[in-house]
Amino acid sequence: MARFYITTPIYYVNDAPHVGHAYCTVNADAMARWHRLIGDETKFLTGTDEHGQKVADAAEKNGVSPQAWADTTSARFREAWDALAISYDDFIRTTEPRHYESVQKFLTAIYDNGFIYKDTYSGLYCVSCEDYFTDEASDNGKCPVHAKPLTQMEEENWFFKLSAFEDKLLEYYAKNPEFVTPGTKSNEAYAFIKGGLRDISITRTSISWGVPVPWDEKHVFYVWYDALINYLTAIGYGREDDEVAKWWPNSHHLIGKEIIRFHCVWWPAMCMAAGLEPPSHVQVHGWLLVGGQKLSKTMAQEGGVKLTDIAPVVLTNEYGVDPIRYYLLREAVLGNDGDFSLEAITARYNTDLANNLGNLVARVATVVQSKCDGLSPGARSDSVLRSDAETAVTETAAAWNRFAPQAALEATWRLIGATNSFLEQNAPWKMESGPEAEAVMGDALEAIRIISILVTPAMPTVAAEIWKRLGLSGLPTDGDFNENTKWGLFAKGVQVEKGDPLFPRIKSE
Ligand code: ME8
Ligand code: MG
Repeated sequence: MARFYITTPIYYVNDAPHVGHAYCTVNADAMARWHRLIGDETKFLTGTDEHGQKVADAAEKNGVSPQAWADTTSARFREAWDALAISYDDFIRTTEPRHYESVQKFLTAIYDNGFIYKDTYSGLYCVSCEDYFTDEASDNGKCPVHAKPLTQMEEENWFFKLSAFEDKLLEYYAKNPEFVTPGTKSNEAYAFIKGGLRDISITRTSISWGVPVPWDEKHVFYVWYDALINYLTAIGYGREDDEVAKWWPNSHHLIGKEIIRFHCVWWPAMCMAAGLEPPSHVQVHGWLLVGGQKLSKTMAQEGGVKLTDIAPVVLTNEYGVDPIRYYLLREAVLGNDGDFSLEAITARYNTDLANNLGNLVARVATVVQSKCDGLSPGARSDSVLRSDAETAVTETAAAWNRFAPQAALEATWRLIGATNSFLEQNAPWKMESGPEAEAVMGDALEAIRIISILVTPAMPTVAAEIWKRLGLSGLPTDGDFNENTKWGLFAKGVQVEKGDPLFPRIKSE
């Protein structure tokens, strides 16, 4: 059996989750659900990044300890993920003892391998990024991501010999052209490495909110340096429950484009330094923008948009869980930026969900009641819909397999469109009850059965509801995907239910 390990970035707990985090987590969730659907042994990891200056500052501002602040905010991420039906298998918090243990083991391995040394560092620092910027990389002394003034910092620190990995990384990229996708982002990382790598400072003495350095008690590890290791902590690195050999060979990190350097340069080098293979794949996604600006916690106070008004939980209450998931998966190509707007959610909802999918299910259920006594007639093996269904299955699968949720949903929606056209052409509602109407409805039901399997990664609740209305037992995710998506399995004489509209139309103002 194939295995699939997928992760999201672990989110900083300086503030509440927003729809940008939801974007990444929903995409990772749909990928995990897809792989479970096709029978892969799957592990889906998300969690929270709780150390560092930014979190310590937020705690201080709120008059509580960093741990108390992290506890509260981490719980809010879990709440948001519950609201979005996120099926994570593990939720990691970097303040957990298991993480300390794995981090210390991993970094001790790098230290023992001779890639860590002590030196003094000074440079321009952005607390929001938790990162240094060179003069050239800064935007006239301001952070290029957050547009805030950078601060001059100087520290005696432990350093990681990143410069020693320039050639090894270039070679790794050359040998593994699919290591980073999409290709444009791979090129970006490659160019960065080609431009020359400087060693990086990996410890801090200025703060104590971090994982202690095992060989020098005055220091804690720099937050990024402990955070990246979370992906290994969750599979037991260096501990009794070590499952690295099981999961690491098919590991996928889904990340936003602003953290490419950490995941596509530092992280593979760190793995090499510790004597481990780099992860198999980093899939980069773009930003959700509002009015051309990146949605972010740090910018919330400055922009016109109130992030609290579009918080994940607010959106799911307003539009429903599956419609929000659908919107986040369908609107933008994974890898590109996408504009976020309530108007676009409404448009997607009314068009793709209410008019196309919802209407299809409703009209078929209605006509099966009126012309077939509510019982499924079974599908024709030579139905004109058969090849549409087979194409949709193949194309949907291929798209999910290449991390393209948007294309996967487009392929599935082509079958929905074809089934609606098929109904319009045949107009079974105008027919007498009898073999002709039954033939049409049998084909339509079979198409819907296959559609409900195909939509499960995106809309698990709706998919299960459709399955139930079709009178089918169990869930659309049960059994073998290849077998179940074959044309012609819908049995004769199954009682089909009518039910309320799946997606009542939203009236736009
Ligand atoms: O960077 N559009 O955490 P973070 C799309 N703790 N995705 C967005 C987004 C937006 N406007 N805003 C945020 C950190 N994201 C580190 C990661 S990993 C070892 C450590 C998503 O709270 C996107 O996936 O700033 C981005 O990479 C992530 O949230 C960053 O979350
Ligand atoms: Mg960020």
